[in-house]
Amino acid sequence: MKGVILAGGLGTRLRPLTNITNKHLIPVYNKPMILYPLETLIKSGIRDILIVSGREHAGHFVEFLGSGKEYGVRLTYRVQDEAGGIAQALLLAGDFADRKPVMVILGDNIFEDNFSKYVKSFRKGARIFLKKVPDAKRFGVPVLEGKNVVNILEKPMPPPNDHAVTGIYQYDGDVFKIIKKLRPSDRGELEITDVNNAYIKRRNLKAEIVRGFWSDAGTFDSLARATQWALRQFDKITAGKLKGRPLR
Ligand code: DAU
Repeated sequence: MKGVILAGGLGTRLRPLTNITNKHLIPVYNKPMILYPLETLIKSGIRDILIVSGREHAGHFVEFLGSGKEYGVRLTYRVQDEAGGIAQALLLAGDFADRKPVMVILGDNIFEDNFSKYVKSFRKGARIFLKKVPDAKRFGVPVLEGKNVVNILEKPMPPPNDHAVTGIYQYDGDVFKIIKKLRPSDRGELEITDVNNAYIKRRNLKAEIVRGFWSDAGTFDSLARATQWALRQFDKITAGKLKGRPLR
């Protein structure tokens, strides 16, 4: 399965940092944001990855990540000229995907989980990943009937429950046909939620639960939360390395 990282958009909520570089290159503790979704795809066993970036500071991605050789992956780049929505950015991956399934991750989403079993088991339709959160109104929120997702509402007020649709998705090759039929939402974007609702209508969408840590990092509050988590991970790793080492 190929992977797609969507790193377009304007990053207006992180100004003035995004006046200096692209939102997805801002540090989350000790490394640029984009390395988290990149490592999530790599941990899932994906080696062929497209990065869709916005125009602003797009060259910084290539300077930083290059061909992907250092990470053992093959990177391809596309530019989304205007921030026309997540689904519009995904449409740019059509040729790259070549009608085969893709795993898509948003460039500002930070996950602890390993998704490799989902990469191995994916056949057709769409798969989304849900997480219980305290602030569901900031996200896509599923309408649940038992364990079934019967609709998804984008940033509902009030939210029907406390689950968020996280920014990692699996789609079969039909996703590009679906996006081509979408109309822009009230905020003028092609919405990934409308893509997922199209799969629900076809009775072809599955939902799984994210067990470990998840956060976006697109606002100062969520960036701080993600940074705190990354710091704790770093401390755990360092403590593990120090354990058992003889004291001099
Ligand atoms: O984080 C998960 C949430 O992401 C989902 O629950 C929502 O359903 C989904 O709409 C999205 O919500 P946000 O409003 O938080 O999305 P945002 O506009 O912040 O964009 C998130 C990432 O998507 C961004 O870091 C890069 C990519 N993106 C976004 C836009 C608007 C693009 O590649 N192109 C775009 O035009």
